[in-house]
This record gives sequence, C-alpha cells and structure tokens, in this order.
Amino acid sequence: MAEIKIKKNIYYVGANDAERRIFDQLIPLPDGTTYNSYLILGSQKNVLVDSVDPTKKDILLNNLKNLNISKIDYIIAHHGEQDHSGAIPDVLAAYPMAKVLTNDKCKEELMDMLLIDEDRFFIVNDGQEVSIGDKTLKIIFTPWVHWPETFVTLLVEDKILFTCDFFGSHYAFDAEKWLYVNDKDLIYAPAKRYFAEIMSPFRNVIRKNLEKVSSLDVEVIAPSHGPLYKGDDFNTFIKDCYKEWSSENVKNEVLLAYVSMHGSIEKIAQYFINSLQKRGVTVKAFDLASADIGEIAMVLLDAATAVIGTPTVLTGPHPSAVFASYLVRALRPKTKFLSVIGSYGWGGKTIEFLGNLLSSTGAEIIEPVMIKGYPKKKDIELLDQLADKIANKHKQLGIT
Ligand code: FEO
Repeated sequence: MAEIKIKKNIYYVGANDAERRIFDQLIPLPDGTTYNSYLILGSQKNVLVDSVDPTKKDILLNNLKNLNISKIDYIIAHHGEQDHSGAIPDVLAAYPMAKVLTNDKCKEELMDMLLIDEDRFFIVNDGQEVSIGDKTLKIIFTPWVHWPETFVTLLVEDKILFTCDFFGSHYAFDAEKWLYVNDKDLIYAPAKRYFAEIMSPFRNVIRKNLEKVSSLDVEVIAPSHGPLYKGDDFNTFIKDCYKEWSSENVKNEVLLAYVSMHGSIEKIAQYFINSLQKRGVTVKAFDLASADIGEIAMVLLDAATAVIGTPTVLTGPHPSAVFASYLVRALRPKTKFLSVIGSYGWGGKTIEFLGNLLSSTGAEIIEPVMIKGYPKKKDIELLDQLADKIANKHKQLGIT
C-alpha cells in the first residue's frame, strides 16, 4: 500500500476487507469493512494504534515495513475483539521491544484470547496522559463501545481522537484514494447499521461516553472501521447521529417481521400492513425468509412497536420467528410495544413461547392475534382492533 499520511508523522496502516460479507457469523456486511490501524511517530516513542483482523496481518506488517519502521514502543489495544487485536501477537513478534498499552480489563481479555504474556503489557488508567516525546496520548475510558473494556485515545497536540468501534462503520472505503467522510448521505446508513447492530444495547452508557468525548478539542475522529471524520461539520454530524440513535426517542413506526409457510401469514401480514397504514402508522415489513437482520436492527432504532408474524410449526413458533424475537430481545431496542400475529392449524404454544422470550425486553405486550387457518371475517376484525390499539398507543406517546 502507498504511504497514507494523516498529518506529519501520523499514518494510516490499516487493511481493507471489501470482500467480507458477514461479521461474527451473524451480521451482514453489504459494504465490506476496513480494520483501521494507525502509526504515530513521536520524537521518543513510536505507537501503533490498534491492529487488524488476523486474516489481514500481512497487510499491516507490510505497511509498517514500507514505512521503514524498525521500532514500535506501544501498541494501543483499545478493544479486545479480534478484528482489532487479532494481529497484535504478530506485531509483538515482529517488534520484540513493543508493549501493549491498554487497561486492566482489556489485558485480561488479550491474555485469555490471544495468549499474550503478562510482561508484554503497559497498563493505563482513565484520564492518564502518556508522553511519547513531542506528542501526548490522553487515555479516556469509554466502556461499552462496544465491550466493557473499550477506551479512546486523544492525540492531544494533533487533535486526533482514535475511537476504535465508537463512531465506526462497516464501509470498505479505499484509504489510498480517500480517508475522510465527504458525503453524509453515503455514510449515514452504514454508520446507523453499525450502531444498531453493536451499540444499541448499551445506549445509556453511550450517552455518557458521548458527553465525555464531546468536550474534547478534536479535529479528526479516527475510528477503526470505515472512513474518518474531519472538521466541525462532519464531527458534529456523526456526534448528532449518535445522540439521536442513543436517545430513547421513537417514531410512529411498526416493525413487522414475519414468516409464512403456506400463505396464511402472508395474507394476514398484508392485511395488517394496510390496516396500520390506514391509521397513519408507517410499517417497515420484513419477510424473514430473506430479510437482512442489519436492516431489522436499524428499524428497531426508530420503531415504537415491533410485531412478529409466525405460523405454528411443531407446536411452537417458526424457528425464523424465534430467531427474530431473540434478536429483538438481545438488541434491547427502544421499542415500547410488542405483539404477535400468528396462525395455527390445530393448536400449539406459539404465544406462550414468544411471550416468555420477549417479556424481558421491558416493552408492553399488546394482546396478540392468533388465527386458525386462513383469515376470516372475525379474524380481520381482530387485526383491525390490534392496529387500533397500536395507533392509539402511539398517539398517547405523542408520536403521530
Ligand atoms: Fe470492531 Fe467490537 O470490534
């Protein structure tokens, strides 16, 4: 890779993974991703900021070689997850004098997951400043963006905030051609998708972290996935996005995630969508046979209500509906109301099963509608009643 300079003595040395299509064997990556790593050359010490996914370790090591780097003093590990830490053992092997600069929590993770020896660590605390000669690293703990150990580093004199997952996006930009976000519309969806998938459950803490970093004097926000943000306009843009996404605000929207085996649920879902729309409620519907769970997670950042649509199979909900319900529960969304529209042939425990699964979300469960077979006139009335209840609940929240 050609030399990519951010500022004097500060370089981008990360790796592009444009072909990657799934993360954690769970999260779709329609735009690929990058593992951003940065090199800071201080007058006394050289610092690598995060590493890359282990599959891309050769790219990182080659980037360092191309810059003729013979000495690294610190490798900052902001986060234990392997997409940033996974190549640290290789960097430690290539640079035997290097220490991993991190906090106690992350040290434990890296010793457990990557088998790094205890004597290779340099432990820092919240608020600590570490001099590397003419530059200063200011350590700021920001837990739960995205694991409990996560922190960020402000390179004080250069006003660069290295944030790892915080403010990241899975977007495989070409760092040799462009580094900084220059089109807010382009990055909005990847950044929102990223927040929805990994940050959303930790909204309370993220609001506090946002306040913590908002008071810093920052020119460049340098995350470890996706492009960087430079200047007040773009920095304010991403911070405002985070403010909105981490808030508890919801919209007059229903997420309808459904699966249909023989057409009954499809018919029920289509009728229900129309019924809600007639009442002024926006519906974002997903057929679980082909849905992208990242898009479902994004809708859960806005929708006041989520409804699961499922047939009964083998006496319970369809496995796809169980997966969607489990996802809803795991993401701990802002969603205020939940319900189920279902069908059955001869019986089963679909409602009981989903009720148990969803009860810990804290959302109010609105009485589900279960329909025997294909929907009939009395079933249509029940669906209208459910749509009425949802529309009224939204009105009571003042969202219309
Ligand atoms: Fe990009 Fe939580 O790792």
